[in-house]
Amino acid sequence: MKGDINALFQPMKIGTMEVKNRIAMAPMGLHSKNPDGSFNQDAIDLYVARAKGGVGLIVTTGIACQNKLDSMRATLATAGDSYIESNKKLTDEVHKNGAKIVLQIANGAGRNRKDGFFLDNDPISSSENPNVWHPEVMHRALTTEEVQFLIQSYADGAFVAKQAGFDGVEVHALHEGYLMDQFSM
Ligand SMILES: Cc1cc2nc3c(=O)[nH]c(=O)nc-3n(C[C@H](O)[C@H](O)[C@H](O)COP(=O)(O)O)c2cc1C
Repeated sequence: MKGDINALFQPMKIGTMEVKNRIAMAPMGLHSKNPDGSFNQDAIDLYVARAKGGVGLIVTTGIACQNKLDSMRATLATAGDSYIESNKKLTDEVHKNGAKIVLQIANGAGRNRKDGFFLDNDPISSSENPNVWHPEVMHRALTTEEVQFLIQSYADGAFVAKQAGFDGVEVHALHEGYLMDQFSM
């Protein structure tokens, strides 16, 4: 059976979101952010250029939902009006150019934490597990209340993303020992 190249250019639906074709930009770590975690002009230019080039769906780099566990600097829990306004510039421009854009949401590095990063933090995991890069460092098990807190933080983060005009969110998940990865093992 031969594949049909034209399928690449057919619209598709993901839930209620209609994407104009099957071409998607995968999430890639991007440091072009303002201190509040919103995308700066460099990032806007990068994503909008992809939309102009015909990509149907852009998945952004990740942002943490909360900073109480496995803390990150900028998070959706601390994002205010400036975060929403800055990211609205991005989502509006991408939409004007015919693409959809979803925000990748995360919840910390988990067992993937590296030097200097995990050392000053409380290393956590789904259960007691060693660090991926430094097996001598053990990560403690999350409590059930903490897991509930993380679940709620995804929902709250998704709500902020919606206010900023994103078409959806992608939950950063299963690779290299990031926090969600441990729940799949
Ligand atoms: C520099 C770089 C940064 C990446 N950052 C992320 C990221 O922030 N979130 C994520 O889920 N995947 C990230 N990835 C993984 C990519 O999204 C993609 O899944 C991976 O490169 C495999 O796709 P490919 O076979 O088309 O390269 C990154 C990959 C690269 C090369």
